[in-house]
Amino acid sequence: MAIWLLPFFSVLLLVLSATWPVISSNSEGDALHALRTKLSDPNNVLQSWDPTLVNPCTWFHVTCDNNNRVIRLDLGNSNISGPLGAEIGQLEHLQYLEFYRNSLEGKIPEELGNLKNLISMDLYENNFQGAIPKSLSKLKSLRFLRLNDNKLSGSIPRELSLLSNLKALELSNNDLCGTIPSEGPFSSFPPQSFANNTRLNGPELQGLAPYDFGC
Ligand SMILES: *[C@@H]1O[C@H](CO)[C@@H](O)[C@H](O)[C@H]1NC(C)=O
Ligand SMILES: *[C@@H]1O[C@H](CO)[C@@H](O)[C@H](O)[C@H]1NC(C)=O
Repeated sequence: MAIWLLPFFSVLLLVLSATWPVISSNSEGDALHALRTKLSDPNNVLQSWDPTLVNPCTWFHVTCDNNNRVIRLDLGNSNISGPLGAEIGQLEHLQYLEFYRNSLEGKIPEELGNLKNLISMDLYENNFQGAIPKSLSKLKSLRFLRLNDNKLSGSIPRELSLLSNLKALELSNNDLCGTIPSEGPFSSFPPQSFANNTRLNGPELQGLAPYDFGC
């Protein structure tokens, strides 16, 4: 490198090092703020979500770990409505996604499959529609998946049987169709987990082929 370029590069480095920590530490705040702008919030439960703060860790209903990474979102029973934005997939450290008993609508974003640390996904009692994304099969830490009481359609992705840590699955009261998988954790879920999906067939039992309602 030509010697005369050195001052230029040191100034550039200085500028980068001064701005980069701020940008990186608030990327999760930016993602949450983007989620907020798509939601209707008549009870103002998201009022404290101020994107000009250095991180979202002081916002109500948001919990961070010691490294200021978001690990919980607790927005059950909050009277919020609208779509769940794809930005949710940027909260890589999230462990608990609690959005139950609201009026969320639209599709369950496939970007949720990016949340490798997720332990619990509670989206029950909302108005979600469309298919259960196959990408949820990437959530190897997932223990609780409750999507009951929505308007979900299509078949249960067979790939979900790869979720070896899954302890509870609730899919009742939707519009799912096809055959319930029987492998992996599905061997221990009770029939109530799938109740009130009129076009859903039980798993194959003792060689009896289930009647296929189609999808
Ligand atoms: C929920 O929001 C609606 C407006 O969208 C309002 O009429 C209703 O009172 C709210 N419900 C509760 C329990 O706060
Ligand atoms: C299925 O629907 C019936 C009638 O709405 C309801 O009483 C029952 O609790 C539902 N079952 C489950 C497991 O949610």
